[in-house]
Amino acid sequence: MKNRHQEGEVLSLILNKISALNQLQDVNTILNATLSEARSLTRADAGSIFLVQDGQLEFRHVQNDTLFGKKDAGAALYRNVSIPISEDSIVGFSALTKEIVAIDDVYNISSDVPYKFNESLDRRNNYHTTSILTVPLVSLDNRCLVGVVQLINAQDEQGRVTRFSEQSKIWVRVFSNNAAAIIERSMLNHELILRMVKMAELHDPGETGAHVQRVSAYSVEIYRCWAKKRKIPQDEIIKYCDLLSRAALLHDAGKVGIPDAILKKPGPLTAEEFEEMKLHTVSGAALFVNISSELDQMTHDIVLHHHERWNGRGYPGRLVQEGEQWVRKPLAGKDIPFAARIVALADVFDALSSQRSYKPPWDDEKIYNEIRKDSGEYFDPELVEAFFEITDILHAIQKKFR
Ligand code: C2E
Ligand code: SIN
Ligand code: SIN
Ligand code: FE
Ligand code: FE
Repeated sequence: MKNRHQEGEVLSLILNKISALNQLQDVNTILNATLSEARSLTRADAGSIFLVQDGQLEFRHVQNDTLFGKKDAGAALYRNVSIPISEDSIVGFSALTKEIVAIDDVYNISSDVPYKFNESLDRRNNYHTTSILTVPLVSLDNRCLVGVVQLINAQDEQGRVTRFSEQSKIWVRVFSNNAAAIIERSMLNHELILRMVKMAELHDPGETGAHVQRVSAYSVEIYRCWAKKRKIPQDEIIKYCDLLSRAALLHDAGKVGIPDAILKKPGPLTAEEFEEMKLHTVSGAALFVNISSELDQMTHDIVLHHHERWNGRGYPGRLVQEGEQWVRKPLAGKDIPFAARIVALADVFDALSSQRSYKPPWDDEKIYNEIRKDSGEYFDPELVEAFFEITDILHAIQKKFR
């Protein structure tokens, strides 16, 4: 048993973790951070986190130090798996009863419980699960179930697998009640943004949000790979992804002002029509001129500059005065805001791999050739390099947001 002094230290540590979580906005970033913090509180080797969606538990993140080390799970993050809220599984049972489920050895579960341990995951991953602590994420104010965190294989000081201590159950409960409220808040915001995006796409109901969610996820993963190669500190990466994932959702906000006759035209655009289409950057950016946060700034940069090209042949550029006249000069290279360069690559990749009113989807080979050819022309070459390192992740995202 810890003494009072140590207990006070752990509580203030938990408060710090909660307050750090509260600085984040994006649902995925928050889920990932919730899982890491819950694991560090309980010294768990692995874990996963599920969100309640349409009455089921949707798998959202997995971490496993033994299998992936400190690396991300990569493509596994975008797996599409849902588990019913029912007595049959451990996470389902925990969700149903809103109770913590602690199991010392999943291969020796008492016979008087309704749930079973699903051994197939261990077999598939060549991993051995022993102890499990499954914690329902129940928001404090309304007792509403938001999701479930499953922590796997608690470790002692020597790194040996052991059971989850009574103390760690108490800590993780305090932490997860608070995390649940933060997750709930971020989900409401996310829904609101998606609803706005869908409204902007009303004349394009075929896509309904999938395009923007893919572009956002591609952007985040391209950036993450780029940043890791450059040893950018982890908390900086988390913060940047938190902003980027939300800002990228809005990259085409200006398309709301483009007439249907142009937006949905089955064939190629005329030169005039394309000139009008280009205005979606400038008119979209006008929505974000009152810059009062980092998010506004990044959204503005992305909306305005996501069609600039590395070689300076994109649009719309920046207004500069030439004599009496104000003209637009396209940006080039590193003058293009970094976030806009990332979204440019993600957006074109999505346009090429998807069906559009004016084009069929391309096959991978053709897409990769195009992107390789455009490295240093259209796209920042460093980002293209990152792109080709994560094509498995990009494919998993494609499958997830169809
Ligand atoms: P979008 O469909 O989201 O496409 C985004 C960007 O992907 C395009 O920016 C372009 O850089 C790239 N892209 C799309 N399709 C192709 C393609 O077949 N080949 C190549 N090499 N690149 C492609 P861009 O050109 O500035 O176009 C901006 C937006 O204008 C497009 O967004 C789309 O909504 C519209 N648009 C562009 N061309 C046409 C067209 O021929 N017909 C129609 N109906 N709309 C078009
Ligand atoms: C949008 O993103 O607002 C419309 C989809 C597209 O880019 O074609
Ligand atoms: C950044 O890390 O935000 C800037 C990197 C770049 O401009 O290439
Ligand atoms: Fe665009
Ligand atoms: Fe787009």
